[in-house]
Amino acid sequence: MQNKKLIIGNWKMGPIKPAEAKKLFEKVKKTAVTLRKTDVVMCPPFVFLNELGKLSGSKCSLGAQNAFYEAEGAFTGEVSPHMLLSFKTKYVILGHSERRALGETDEMISKKVGMALRVGLVPVLCVGEKARDEEGKFLQTLEQQIKASFSGVSKKQAGGVVIAYEPVWAIGANATGAITPASLLETVIFIRKILANMYDLPIAHGATILYGGSVDEKNSAEFLKEKGVDGLLVGRASLDAEKFNKILKIAETI
Ligand code: PGA
Repeated sequence: MQNKKLIIGNWKMGPIKPAEAKKLFEKVKKTAVTLRKTDVVMCPPFVFLNELGKLSGSKCSLGAQNAFYEAEGAFTGEVSPHMLLSFKTKYVILGHSERRALGETDEMISKKVGMALRVGLVPVLCVGEKARDEEGKFLQTLEQQIKASFSGVSKKQAGGVVIAYEPVWAIGANATGAITPASLLETVIFIRKILANMYDLPIAHGATILYGGSVDEKNSAEFLKEKGVDGLLVGRASLDAEKFNKILKIAETI
């Protein structure tokens, strides 16, 4: 657990126009710079990183939504993590379920996490089950994803990975709804247990764990009050400056 809250906006494939992206970033930045207990990260599409990097700062950082696991070479369409550093990018979302759905495997994600750490980016590793079952088999999925993604991460590096727990069934416009705060707490405790088994208790306790999936300005307080999580990964609501700013202000008061 961290003292400060971390709120990350995942813009996904929006907005379409650079001017809209700039306006959105500027509006959020205005609120972000007033916060003392909340760190804000916005993750726009790659093509906006250059412009937005000029506006970012310590209170309002920039993240990418993906990065490749090689530094340079013949990899058409991929973006090197080294390139991201030139645009003041500090964080990188890895293993998002929408990328897993396009074929990204645990092995690829593990390589990406290792590479991001080596170049000095903070990986925001997304994990989450596609569906829940009464017998709790979904916990095995989570355990497998975490173990695989951390396979190349040393004890020294482990604290530098942000984990975003995003149950797939709770993400996006087709979501069946957000998780309940009680189930979230249980799941986060389970994630910390996995980390304790893989590393040790201080790492498990100190890990930054976020929740993502249908977070909005109406439900964000419940998740943050539950104490299990250190912050939120917000999708749709992060494209609306008013809604996202409300979430930031709520985080600041909890
Ligand atoms: P959502 O997406 O908030 O729109 O459900 C979350 C995410 O995909 O990170």
